[in-house]
Amino acid sequence: MQCKIPKSIFWYEHYIVQEGKLGMISIIGSGRVGSALAFLCASNTLDDIVLVNKTESEAIGEAMDISNAIPKNSSITISGTSDFSKIRNSEIVVITASSGTYLKSRTEMIGQQVKMLQEISSEVVKFAPNSKVVVVSNPLDVLTYVFLRESKFPKNKVLGVASSLDSSRFQLLLAEELKANQSEIKDAIVLGEHGDSMVPVFSRAMCKDTPVEDLLSEEQKKSITLKLIGYWKKLRDYKARSVFGIAKNTYDVLESISKDKQISIPASVLLEGQYGISDVCIGIPVKISKNGVDGINEIKLSDFELDSLKKSAKIVKEYL
Ligand code: 2OP
Repeated sequence: MQCKIPKSIFWYEHYIVQEGKLGMISIIGSGRVGSALAFLCASNTLDDIVLVNKTESEAIGEAMDISNAIPKNSSITISGTSDFSKIRNSEIVVITASSGTYLKSRTEMIGQQVKMLQEISSEVVKFAPNSKVVVVSNPLDVLTYVFLRESKFPKNKVLGVASSLDSSRFQLLLAEELKANQSEIKDAIVLGEHGDSMVPVFSRAMCKDTPVEDLLSEEQKKSITLKLIGYWKKLRDYKARSVFGIAKNTYDVLESISKDKQISIPASVLLEGQYGISDVCIGIPVKISKNGVDGINEIKLSDFELDSLKKSAKIVKEYL
């Protein structure tokens, strides 16, 4: 059944007219990931939310639905719009929009995704020039770099979220392989491209009190790496696309910016010589605070991991 939202009633304007509120979070793209993220922000009363979508009715519908998940004692609001001027003064802008569906590779639609990002970037520059921008759309590292280049935003104000999602998957795969509970795996991080050249850092991961490298053969490490790289495609054998993992990992970033929680996670940021890499965005360990990216952590990697990270950066650069 199609439900056409009437244009003349006053009560639903609550969901569409919100502008210029300070501390607001704007989410560009109200598809599955954007709306799951908005749900997390709303149900945890993070801040006022504006959902922006090309098809306005979809954004309004999600806003109306999610609005009922705001805790009863909270004053935050959520609204839906297709009008970018409504993101004015946002503290954080999250880009989850996608111009289509990719099946084989995250770079499949790179041309149209870059074009979309350029258009979004000019709107963000116009209406929310002081915001921190969190890129979620793919190809993640390329689009994070494109946003920085187009917007000329300070580098600490732009980051891409994906390596923390890859790290969640790495932790799970290590737990499965070592027949442990996920909570018993510590410091399982993934760096580099959010793509086939991603670098799982085995050298730092621990299972209970034992380095995982003492427990895994080279064959097992290779097998885990392949499962990690292919996780998103496997998931798509069962479900159209991943939603909740990326939404929660992105929520953690927004919460850290909004509440100055200072979390340390891997995220895609501009490298300027760290790890011997420059002029590209890839996933590396960073601290996230109210300032956005509050520093890059240069952690010790094995020679193989460092070499793989450099190769991964080279692969991403080829798309720029
Ligand atoms: C993921 O890794 C497709 O990038 C998305 O689930």
